[in-house]
Amino acid sequence: MSKRVIETFRGKNGNTSEYFNAHFEKEPGGDGGWFYNIGLDALPETFVPKAVLDVGCGPGKGLRICAQKWSRVKLYGVDFSAAALKICGSHVPHADLTNLDVREAKELHAANLVMCVATMEHIKNPSTLIRKMEAATYGFLMVVTPFNWAINTIHINSFQPEWFEKRGFTVQVIPFRDEKKVLVCTKEIRRK
Ligand SMILES: C[S@@+](CC[C@H](N)C(=O)[O-])C[C@H]1O[C@@H](n2cnc3c(N)ncnc32)[C@H](O)[C@@H]1O
Repeated sequence: MSKRVIETFRGKNGNTSEYFNAHFEKEPGGDGGWFYNIGLDALPETFVPKAVLDVGCGPGKGLRICAQKWSRVKLYGVDFSAAALKICGSHVPHADLTNLDVREAKELHAANLVMCVATMEHIKNPSTLIRKMEAATYGFLMVVTPFNWAINTIHINSFQPEWFEKRGFTVQVIPFRDEKKVLVCTKEIRRK
């Protein structure tokens, strides 16, 4: 996150599309998908999704990894940052992308893999988003989020493993860097 972008939004609610547009216009790249890879590694090796929905897909690292891993998969991404979606579309032109504030969405596109990576910490009323994602999932729901990182105007939630466990997720705590850790949370949802 560039210092200048943080300064511009200091003291304001950082979780706006304007903030993320400014962020992705300055830093269109990213970490190369480490957060997605640890989440995908937590899924059964034999699982091959037909459709993936990435909630808060950002510039498309996760969808790109999925397209490389599963050549026939249908890709859906939602994000409220137009700048992020523009970059995402350039990486995965065949993905179906929607500019959407997930807090306002009544429902999300159904998929047998729903992912939400580095996004839950930004969302007010995270339980509501979990319920919407559960309703959209007919396979696996996978969430990756920081564990015990500082709360600020951008990261407004910090989750303990129990928060996910009591909602039926299996949780792993994975070391990141500089003593930081992340939670990798997965839940299988079968539909009759
Ligand atoms: C830290 S970025 C992570 C992006 C991507 N998942 C990744 O790991 O590369 C958080 C993403 O969530 C999106 N986001 C945050 N709040 C959102 C909301 N209410 N509705 C839709 N997207 C949101 C931001 O625009 C941003 O792309």
